[in-house]
Amino acid sequence: MYALITGATSGIGRAMAYLLAEKAYDLLLVARNEKNLKDLQTTLEETYNVKVQVQSVDVTKFIELNQLIDYIAEEKKQIDLFVNNAGVGFFGDFGQMSEEEDLVAIDTNIRGFTYLTKKVYPYLHSGSRVLQVASTAAFAPGPYMAVYYASKAYVLSLSMALRNEWKDKGIQVSILCPGPTKTDFIQKARMHKSGLAKLSAMTPEAVAHIGYKGLMKNKAIIIPGFTNKLSACALTLLPIRVSTLLVRSTQKNESK
Ligand SMILES: NC(=O)c1ccc[n+]([C@@H]2O[C@H](COP(=O)([O-])OP(=O)(O)OC[C@H]3O[C@@H](n4cnc5c(N)ncnc54)[C@H](OP(=O)(O)O)[C@@H]3O)[C@@H](O)[C@H]2O)c1
Repeated sequence: MYALITGATSGIGRAMAYLLAEKAYDLLLVARNEKNLKDLQTTLEETYNVKVQVQSVDVTKFIELNQLIDYIAEEKKQIDLFVNNAGVGFFGDFGQMSEEEDLVAIDTNIRGFTYLTKKVYPYLHSGSRVLQVASTAAFAPGPYMAVYYASKAYVLSLSMALRNEWKDKGIQVSILCPGPTKTDFIQKARMHKSGLAKLSAMTPEAVAHIGYKGLMKNKAIIIPGFTNKLSACALTLLPIRVSTLLVRSTQKNESK
């Protein structure tokens, strides 16, 4: 079995790499930082006796994504499991945040994500499984993290549509929607300034484990943790005006 994981060097992606290696998958791991990739490759190969390949790729750059696809083509392998996980977000007032941050989030979570999904498709086969990593942020607008929430709503919508389209081909698509998770994402996204960061967060290992189990059961949407399930359910049922207020009340900028 051969698995491709993006964002594999940290947090949820890294936990997924360990979990799949333990389950004897050969791996193709993708992130930008080459040293982190090589260190992880060595550790996983030594610990689990699996073949681990690494490719340093920035998913916001189509040239690098095309090089990744060429590499997969040269390997003449089909992908049994694809974890489309790389993602970024930034906390702050939309009007005051730099447009660069907005664009990095859009280029990573939407453009790169979509392009890679499409380009990987020819290497999937009947029986392949795809885990698209969204967030509970996908279920409502998110004041103070507006672009990130909107990007994850896109991930959920696109992926549910593909789940439907690809069912006929025997390709299974599931969407993982974690709530707050103890990873570097929280610092990088400045979420320590958000009230949300004060809520209890899950470990990336627990999220990866639940994600894998849900994927194997062909669940459409996988929400790890009871509280996250409850809040996702409430956000979906409430009128959008009210769900936006609710997110604002938890996400409220603590730095003000
Ligand atoms: N942590 C949370 O609270 C949380 C909650 C819900 C959903 N999520 C989602 O879960 C996914 C993983 O997040 P995480 O918490 O595990 O974050 P993380 O610890 O910050 O890890 C992000 C990973 O993505 C890679 N990455 C970032 N930008 C990239 C790019 N342009 N090209 C290639 N790789 C890139 C990073 O490696 P390099 O920097 O070396 O590229 C790293 O391996 C994301 O989609 C995130 O939106 C996270």
